[in-house]
Amino acid sequence: MQKFLLVTDLDNTLVGDDEAMAVLTQQLSQHRAEYGTRIVYSTGRSFTSYQQLRTEKQLLEPDALVTAVGTEIYFGTDKQIPNSQWSEKLSPGWNRELAVATAAHFPDLVPQPNSEQRPFKVSYFVSQQTSKAIIPQLESLLAEQGLAFKVVYSGGKDLDILPECGDKGLAMRFLRQTWDFPPSQTVACGDSGNDIALFSVGEERGIIVGNALPELRQWYETHPADYRYFARASYAGGVLEGLRHFGFL
Ligand code: GLC
Ligand code: MG
Repeated sequence: MQKFLLVTDLDNTLVGDDEAMAVLTQQLSQHRAEYGTRIVYSTGRSFTSYQQLRTEKQLLEPDALVTAVGTEIYFGTDKQIPNSQWSEKLSPGWNRELAVATAAHFPDLVPQPNSEQRPFKVSYFVSQQTSKAIIPQLESLLAEQGLAFKVVYSGGKDLDILPECGDKGLAMRFLRQTWDFPPSQTVACGDSGNDIALFSVGEERGIIVGNALPELRQWYETHPADYRYFARASYAGGVLEGLRHFGFL
């Protein structure tokens, strides 16, 4: 057995089946104690919203926490403050006010609650149907303004505008390089659109849980690779199945 870096989404991936999560958590925490495996949570939630889930589900303490769809990383000595090295990487070409003003041209984009609006993340609700027409128009208007951005659509309802260099995949790579794990000893797990970045940044191992949403299923079907595994089981059961498939556990 060797140490590995596990990067997992929370809602509907690690969290969703309490019993399976308890089994997985027990194995992971043992592996961490014995081999130095590191555990990272990577969520679309804000730090505040993560803390609610952490209390509600009594989540295992991770070694690092990535929130707001990869735009904030918390680890090291002060776990309450986002890592400044990461924030500095996101700043070039990002202009939050301009992103908000540009999105205001689209009345179908309904702003998410203030708690989910972050310095490097502007978020809206929009239906799947409407998003198909709006996303290309929004992207070209943002590009015309000279913004370095990316638009991520998830869960058939959430639209995030992020800095070009900020997403879950790039945040994973930052931690992987910081802690010196090769891609072959790194594994990412997810269920929805904002997790696609985890599976496409490089050749890190990928586990797509059995309950994955159509947006991720379709992406997986059109991007086959032997370093990605689509689990039969759902939620944490799917993560466990995938970790065994790759020989991590
Ligand atoms: C989480 C966040 C939300 C975001 C969504 C998709 O639900 O709270 O702001 O839009 O993830 O990334
Ligand atoms: Mg999820």
